Amino acid sequence: MEMNNSARGGKIYLDYAATTPVDAEVLKTMLPYFSSEFGNASSLHSFGRNAADAVTAARESAACFFKCTSEEIIFTSGATESNNLAIKGVLRAYNKNKKNSGKKPHIITTVFEHSCVLKTCQKLEKEGSAEVTYLPVYSDGIIKVSDLEKAIKENTLLVTVMYVNNEIGTVQPIAQIGKVIKKHNSKLLDTKYQILFHTDATQAVAYFDINVKRLGVDLLSMSSHKIYGPKGVGMLLVKKGTKITQIQDGGAQEFALRAGTLNSTGIIGLGKAIEVLEKNKQKEIKKIKELRDYLIKKVLKEIPSVRLNGSRSKRSPNNANFSFSDVEGESLLLYLDAEGIAVSTGSACSSGSLSPSHVLLALGLKPEQAHGSLRVTLGKYTTKKELVIFVAKLKKVLEKLRKVSGELLKEYYSKKK
Ligand SMILES: Cc1ncc(COP(=O)(O)O)c(C=O)c1O
Repeated sequence: MEMNNSARGGKIYLDYAATTPVDAEVLKTMLPYFSSEFGNASSLHSFGRNAADAVTAARESAACFFKCTSEEIIFTSGATESNNLAIKGVLRAYNKNKKNSGKKPHIITTVFEHSCVLKTCQKLEKEGSAEVTYLPVYSDGIIKVSDLEKAIKENTLLVTVMYVNNEIGTVQPIAQIGKVIKKHNSKLLDTKYQILFHTDATQAVAYFDINVKRLGVDLLSMSSHKIYGPKGVGMLLVKKGTKITQIQDGGAQEFALRAGTLNSTGIIGLGKAIEVLEKNKQKEIKKIKELRDYLIKKVLKEIPSVRLNGSRSKRSPNNANFSFSDVEGESLLLYLDAEGIAVSTGSACSSGSLSPSHVLLALGLKPEQAHGSLRVTLGKYTTKKELVIFVAKLKKVLEKLRKVSGELLKEYYSKKK
């Protein structure tokens, strides 16, 4: 079944970076594992073995896609858990090594990571368990490899840099960073300070090279629900030999790295989602990129006082992030929602916080520009017709909102200066 506009009750969904609908083939594959094949993959009887066999097949599909071995795949509950496991697990393994006692490890990350990475790093820093360097991001939404090289210290244990930013879709030079770290590590005689490289590839898997060998990463996080798989399941890829310890105690599942009964139904869905993605990836990238370019061109041409946030070329094929002047992003979002269109904003209420997006501020946007932002993300079911309707409704809503609140907002921000 194609997920078309009518399948969504006539509504237009343009928030594929938040989540994606489960692909029909994926759903079909998962269904028996909710009922007749309900066994616990750790059980030794036939019910368990059937579930375990299907999990093994999913693991093999994933290993083939990421170009790693099955043993390097750790199934988790999603990218939040994968990121926590990567950072805390590496730190825990470091602290368990008596040789390291009294030596505080150093982590390098960026100012515009997803909150699950940022908050983890901030917490470790606050607790006194790690020193953290937050690399700046420039107006194009991309970090500089030279900044990273300069930030490396003798006690640097981990570099964690996201592959594609979830708000502005900009692509970070992961393979280049991988080379820098490899070169640095090759010069070290004492292996205990080898730098490990982790990337949060959650928003990259569907659109970019994900071969872990070419990227030169030791750890990679991803999430199923961003690639038309079910929610609540993801993976952490852990290169063989990486010093990492489990962070939650319990059973010995997932090569003793992630305790807890396997979400076998979810894992089987994720395996199928990867197979479907692999089959259609290049075709979909081409189609979505064309639609995105059409959207960006049309919005910049037809709407006054708007800017595109982040590099125009080094961005995900499915992402367009705009800032509209004299308007609040959340008002825009709610008015568009009332028109049957779902988008996202990095501004206040929608993200559950009172401050504007840390990502947009990190790019150097003024708070009023960050507040007036809209993230439009496309997916495999997006059509040109939907984008035509979206732009027409956006124009209408913007005109209305700017008339009502434009002057008030101008006054408010000029007083704040
Ligand atoms: C870049 C990035 N990292 C991590 C996450 C968290 O993923 P999950 O929902 O699987 O926990 C997201 C989800 O939006 C994301 O976009």
